[in-house]
Amino acid sequence: MSAEQDMIRIYIMGKAYEVPGGLTIMKAMEYAGYRLVRGVGCRGGFCGACATVFRRAGDYKLYADLACQATAEDEMYIAQIPSVPAERASWVLTELAPEDNPILALYPEVARCVACNTCTRACPQELEVMDYIQAALRGDIPQVAELSFDCVQCGLCAMRCPAEIVHYHVGQLARRIYGAYRAPEAGHLAARVQETARGDFDQELDKLEQMSKDELVELYRKRDVES
Ligand code: FES
Repeated sequence: MSAEQDMIRIYIMGKAYEVPGGLTIMKAMEYAGYRLVRGVGCRGGFCGACATVFRRAGDYKLYADLACQATAEDEMYIAQIPSVPAERASWVLTELAPEDNPILALYPEVARCVACNTCTRACPQELEVMDYIQAALRGDIPQVAELSFDCVQCGLCAMRCPAEIVHYHVGQLARRIYGAYRAPEAGHLAARVQETARGDFDQELDKLEQMSKDELVELYRKRDVES
């Protein structure tokens, strides 16, 4: 197949571009000349910054995915969105009463879930989003924290939800509550905090502070790396 045959046509914000086939939407946009300063972060599917909506040729439906993960297709119409328009409730972790299921008080729309599973289908991480919303409804915070653990906060679930639930903010709140109030204490962490407070590492930290950037780089390169 020639290089010319490999090219596909895509439309970015309505304008046509010829780009090589097989690129991710993000790389196709950059190939087309877009310099992405927003809506881009890790480029590896972890930060959730690159939510993108698109239509496929001959298909009226609107799709959404991560631009750094989804592959651009011939005749695809692409539009990037600067952020997902979802309200995050305001809360102070130390003022929450976890036994009262604060999720429902802060995000009452959770009770509107119609179990349509659209959120689960929209998730690029393939998380069981609807299941953790149902767990939130029951007040099962450990289950919400567990099921939402790999959430990258891209917001695609919220964007597609007919009940206007902001699933990813709900999951984040549950993980914070779980971490602060429910998770068993990590013994090794408590010990390390004590050692630090006692000043066991002061000498080493002082030494690091005196080092030049080159010396720090060298030290970093020689560090022990777990296989
Ligand atoms: S750029 Fe980080 S998830 Fe796409």
